[in-house]
Amino acid sequence: MTLIPELTILQPADKEDLDLPRTLEDELTTSKKRLYIESYGCQMNFADSEIVAAVMRNAGFATTATAEDADVIFLNTCAIRENAEQKVRNRLKHLTGLKRNKPALLVGLLGCMAERLKTNLLEEEKVVDIVAGPDAYRDIPKLVEEAESGQKAVNVFLSREETYADIAPIRLNSNGVTAFVSIMRGCDNMCSFCVVPFTRGRERSRDPHSIIRECEQLFADGYREVTLLGQNVDSYKWGEGEKREEGKSLSPPSSPSSLLSVNFANLLELVAQIHPDLRVRFSTSHPKDITDDVLYAIKRYDNVCNYIHLPAQSGNSRVLKLMNRTYDRPWYISKIDRIREILGEDCGISTDMISGFCTETENEHQESLSLMDYVKYDYAYMFAYSERPGTLAAKKYADDIAEDVKKRRLNEIISRQLQHSSARNQRHIGQVQRVLIEGRSKRSDADLSGRNDQNKMVVFPAGNHQKGDYVNVVVTECSSATLRGIVV
Ligand code: SAH
Ligand code: SF4
Ligand code: F3S
Repeated sequence: MTLIPELTILQPADKEDLDLPRTLEDELTTSKKRLYIESYGCQMNFADSEIVAAVMRNAGFATTATAEDADVIFLNTCAIRENAEQKVRNRLKHLTGLKRNKPALLVGLLGCMAERLKTNLLEEEKVVDIVAGPDAYRDIPKLVEEAESGQKAVNVFLSREETYADIAPIRLNSNGVTAFVSIMRGCDNMCSFCVVPFTRGRERSRDPHSIIRECEQLFADGYREVTLLGQNVDSYKWGEGEKREEGKSLSPPSSPSSLLSVNFANLLELVAQIHPDLRVRFSTSHPKDITDDVLYAIKRYDNVCNYIHLPAQSGNSRVLKLMNRTYDRPWYISKIDRIREILGEDCGISTDMISGFCTETENEHQESLSLMDYVKYDYAYMFAYSERPGTLAAKKYADDIAEDVKKRRLNEIISRQLQHSSARNQRHIGQVQRVLIEGRSKRSDADLSGRNDQNKMVVFPAGNHQKGDYVNVVVTECSSATLRGIVV
């Protein structure tokens, strides 16, 4: 899952773009109770905040973009590294100030940090009134009521079934063009460094009917790209044994037998078939689970993007074993070779890398760099190892690499990646790229920006083009982060 590096304040999608029903507009101006949500962490958390907004709207709350206006403030938190939690604690200090001036204000902590720390949070952070884990969002209106009556309210039960399949998310902070769609929750992998299995619980897949319906609705509302989200999308599985929605049948991608069970490759095809102008992305793939069928689905459908996020974490087999990633370096390389074989050199590939995992030697770190040299990733998310209480690594191995060594190794990883990103972007110069326009460029109002098939940001002079349009752009220059060109 891709981390969204900076905190984003979620606000209702641009009203003009979305042609919101009158009711929400009325709500925004007249509702007495207002909710403000801030999201931290991965895309999944951002998607969850849209579920929470929907649940709260049913309970009579409108969303506001200003914390100062709110009656209820939710922080949807991340626990992946210590600094993710630190950010939230700093934010809570600020909210303590707000609450001093407005004693009726309620503060709720949602998401992974809430799940990890449970009731301890109430003792550690006095400003918090509500603690709700990722599977407790249907219960939030009740928790708010409890808190309104002056009690602290907590629900951190993890579920084996909850997927929020029937809740239509309220798109927050949306560009009206691209949207996240959760297809599964939880993770069964137990990578030794990772807190997610503890904060998100067991893996479960969402009913494909509800996924298709949500994507169809997005397309009808003018969206042109969906990103299917899960911690490990390749293990998506909806089988015969699952509870089905009455009277619904799926038109299967290639054979009716796939009605009986839907795997990730089938699901990709089903979503791709909604409309050729609906782009489909997905994240995250696990090297142990990605199949040839998925690669062939990418190849078969022009609207399934040529881009795979395939986190390696390390390039050394011994470290990978300690990380409990269940693949080794040769296996990972064989997956990369297979991607190149089926999808060619142009397929975008990105990774996550961790520096300074327990007992990692200098040579083993060099193997991470040499793996990067082998793959030449288009993009990477790179982190220094941060020990998380309760994880397998925290229990079994000493966090024995000094902070300055972790940082130095991380910097080496980052600078190697910058070289590769630049080189990979250079390849596009002179090529014509199909770009889905997402909006104005951040740097200049005269430019538009959007992404190409491989998930790279492309900036070009606006002309008469609109967001939501596809344009063909010839790339004329690039940096390690963006491509620049002109529409042809
Ligand atoms: N399910 C995804 C990852 C979700 S977490 C996957 O398997 O790839 C996103 C990334 O955070 C991970 O890929 C890993 O690189 C990083 N990460 C997770 N736990 C970490 C830790 N304790 N310290 C540093 N980085 C960590
Ligand atoms: Fe964490 Fe591993 Fe699951 Fe990803 S696959 S969420 S890294 S346990
Ligand atoms: Fe995501 Fe952070 Fe939780 S990365 S799953 S919000 S721990």
